Amino acid sequence: MCKKIGIAVIGNGNRARGVLSYLFPVSQDNIRIVSVYDPDQAEMEDVCKVWNMPDALCCNSSVEAITAPGVDWVMIFSPNVFHKQHILEGFQAGKHVFSEKPLATSIEDCKMIYDAWQQSGQLFATGFVLRYANIYRTTKEILDSGKLGRLLTLEANEHIRPGHGGYIMCNWRRLTRIAGPHILEKCCHDLDLINWFCQSLPSKVVSFGGREFFRPENRCMEEKYGKEMFHMWRDPHRTETPFSDDTDLMDNQVSIAEYRNRIRVSFTSTMSNAIPERRMSFHCSEGNLDLDLYKMQIRYKNIADENETVLNFDGDFHGGGDAVIMKELFDTMQNGTAPSCSGNEGLESAVFALALDQAAQNGAVVDLEPVWKSLGR
Ligand SMILES: NC(=O)c1ccc[n+]([C@@H]2O[C@H](COP(=O)([O-])OP(=O)(O)OC[C@H]3O[C@@H](n4cnc5c(N)ncnc54)[C@H](O)[C@@H]3O)[C@@H](O)[C@H]2O)c1
Repeated sequence: MCKKIGIAVIGNGNRARGVLSYLFPVSQDNIRIVSVYDPDQAEMEDVCKVWNMPDALCCNSSVEAITAPGVDWVMIFSPNVFHKQHILEGFQAGKHVFSEKPLATSIEDCKMIYDAWQQSGQLFATGFVLRYANIYRTTKEILDSGKLGRLLTLEANEHIRPGHGGYIMCNWRRLTRIAGPHILEKCCHDLDLINWFCQSLPSKVVSFGGREFFRPENRCMEEKYGKEMFHMWRDPHRTETPFSDDTDLMDNQVSIAEYRNRIRVSFTSTMSNAIPERRMSFHCSEGNLDLDLYKMQIRYKNIADENETVLNFDGDFHGGGDAVIMKELFDTMQNGTAPSCSGNEGLESAVFALALDQAAQNGAVVDLEPVWKSLGR
């Protein structure tokens, strides 16, 4: 017999709409959106229509939504700099919390959230959706099985399409004071996966990056290819053009990290690719493995194997992880099962991302050991 769960949804934009569409079917009639809050009144009213929840309260503040009678869980989909406020408000009100990644935009905020969660005794799930995708879970199983020996180096990337890059550059994501740097806002998924696969923490990092493409002098690209080339998703708040100086993001960045267990990692991200790619290549002592998220394929081979093993996976955007994370979240809501991703993953991936940003800003090697020590790791 399922419990009825009341939810407050903070931030009613694309992600809330997208991922909750996977929660409603698994929960059947056992989820009720009690309240919503978004400073954009039209978005709040629209989302209640989209979800066919005419009784949901449209609130004037996040606290009003969180403390509305009948709320058990707070689900947070606000821009990143507001995550800390909303997560802390949730725990202070004695609610369980799901928050989207990244955990927050500074190490201090992440630590405050982590400590508040530890003291709260509440359940806390975070939206590192790729950890729930079968292709990444299978990769982890193969690596952990020892079939390929010990992981030595890992080469990873995230190269998005022009429409995705243009969306970011017209959105709140273009401003690090709201989103944090791109390496945090977008790439924290990959950095979290890398931490998970390496089973350790990055000790030293170095990084180079800059903004070379999304600049005013390249606005002619909109005439050459049409504006739609650089515009991918619904955004009621978008600016006129992604080719402006109204951003402080890097649109390309190349990074290297050395982990405590001597695994060496490289990660490259760019924002305007005809052929998008999200790939991880694992070089191990007795074999190697290549994971390609766009092709939804893993290839691996032990040095003694005659042939490569090729595994093909099903799944839409995020490798099918959206459906799984919501299915498992519903189980957490019903049975209190610990979520696969929580405050720890959020904190450690944010520290990694912010150190890469610092390294790229200053052109210097960043030693993370003092930071890990201050965080008790
Ligand atoms: N896990 C994933 O794969 C994934 C994918 C996309 C987005 N996200 C995360 O989800 C969050 C939302 O992203 P999105 O794509 O929905 O953005 P969006 O721009 O579509 O929606 C954000 C909404 O937040 C509202 N908002 C602004 N200030 C607010 C405040 N102070 N309090 C509450 N709401 C506020 C905006 O009006 C907007 O409606 C971000 O943290 C983002 O990183 C995660």
